[in-house]
Amino acid sequence: MNANANMAIIIGSGFESLTAKGRGHAVATRFGAPSADIHETMLEGCPVLTLARHGSEHTIPPHAINYRANLAALQERGATSVIALNTVGAVSDACDSGRIAVPRQIIDYTWGRAHTIYDGSDGLVEHVDFTEPFTASLRDALLAAATGSGVDCYDGGVYAAMQGPHLETAAEVDRLDRDGVDFVGMTAMPEAVIARELGLEYACLAMIVNRAAGRGDIPIHDDVESGTVAARERAMQVLQQFFRQRG
Ligand code: HPA
Repeated sequence: MNANANMAIIIGSGFESLTAKGRGHAVATRFGAPSADIHETMLEGCPVLTLARHGSEHTIPPHAINYRANLAALQERGATSVIALNTVGAVSDACDSGRIAVPRQIIDYTWGRAHTIYDGSDGLVEHVDFTEPFTASLRDALLAAATGSGVDCYDGGVYAAMQGPHLETAAEVDRLDRDGVDFVGMTAMPEAVIARELGLEYACLAMIVNRAAGRGDIPIHDDVESGTVAARERAMQVLQQFFRQRG
């Protein structure tokens, strides 16, 4: 990836330390307001922009996030490269709760979200190439940071973006499995494709916080509680190493 990239991190829950520090900027975009102020902070000596995807008080559910405004606001503040932190459930046996992954592919099952900047309103028709939904060089840099920090990180896999906000039925998870899905979450789409349309580098650092519905032997929410702590800790170690390597 570009060594001079201006980095941003889109944060789910649990990384308040990254959004609490630094100066916050309210940004207005042509798509409306982003979920929260964009913060300028430092991580391992590197400047980084951060944005709380679900809002500063975690009040915006996945289907109501203004993904276009979030990415446009980061770009307006100078971001060229975005690391997305996303929590997921494990569908396949490749990964278990508490681990992290850098997925390679996406299947989009969401509906009714503002999913493109090319919505026809300004007469522009564009069909971006989305064969590889994540930026390869940014994926590689995240995987190198995982190796460098000694964190076990799954390389690859298919992320399914579901509409939510409810978790899936067991039959839906079986269908996802038949579709070749490894992880299920609710936020990587349309985020990834809008990043591509805006010309931003984008990769996902997925935190596996539970076995998907019907797959685990403990209630999902108990699984989430323990899985989240372990996965968050690992993701933070990878981020620190990522920025150490850049600094
Ligand atoms: N399903 C969808 N989204 C999720 C899950 C899940 O099991 N876990 C964390 N985000």
